[in-house]
Amino acid sequence: MNLIVCVDENWGIGREGRLLCPIPADLKQFKAHTLGKVVILGRLTLSTFPRQQPLPGRDNIILSHDPAYTVENAQVAHSLDELFALLRPYEEENIYVIGGESVYRLLLPYCQRAYVTRLERDFAADRFLPDLEQEGWQLKESSERFEHEGTPYRFCTYENPKAEAWR
Ligand SMILES: NC(=O)c1ccc[n+]([C@@H]2O[C@H](COP(=O)([O-])OP(=O)(O)OC[C@H]3O[C@@H](n4cnc5c(N)ncnc54)[C@H](OP(=O)(O)O)[C@@H]3O)[C@@H](O)[C@H]2O)c1
Repeated sequence: MNLIVCVDENWGIGREGRLLCPIPADLKQFKAHTLGKVVILGRLTLSTFPRQQPLPGRDNIILSHDPAYTVENAQVAHSLDELFALLRPYEEENIYVIGGESVYRLLLPYCQRAYVTRLERDFAADRFLPDLEQEGWQLKESSERFEHEGTPYRFCTYENPKAEAWR
């Protein structure tokens, strides 16, 4: 499975329940990757979306421990085992983990590839992705340096040589 994320220079991903710095080119790449695929997200990340609705054009799987929690137009998984059962019909390369912190941490060991937009600035985040380079992931590709409203950033692709099988 894949992971897709935007991080600041400290691998921060969010602050006060929001994205750090929405960048149009990043949102466009996110859409290009995930349209027609299955996305996995935590209940709190869903609550940050417009009208708290699942992402259109994608199969959404929301994680929540609450057995009574339901979401229209999405599936809910209450545990890792339930999630893996829901993922069984999908091809590995069509699965995207889209956050937030608790869901990235939960699924990091099973992800083979990460699409990481790296912002070269500190946004004083309160939610983080583990530093993939310290975790032994390998940088496979890095784009040229772009800039949005004074924030330089690059699109990077990492691979996890120790990805664990989940099925
Ligand atoms: N930069 C990026 O690319 C990016 C992407 C996505 C999100 N974010 C940011 O990340 C932040 C949110 O991250 P977060 O860690 O606070 O929340 P989150 O991971 O989005 O959601 C947490 C919730 O997911 C459910 N959950 C987690 N693990 C579970 C498990 N093993 N089984 C069942 N349910 C489980 C729980 O829901 P219940 O409480 O209902 O049990 C938990 O409270 C926001 O600031 C958001 O903007 C950033």
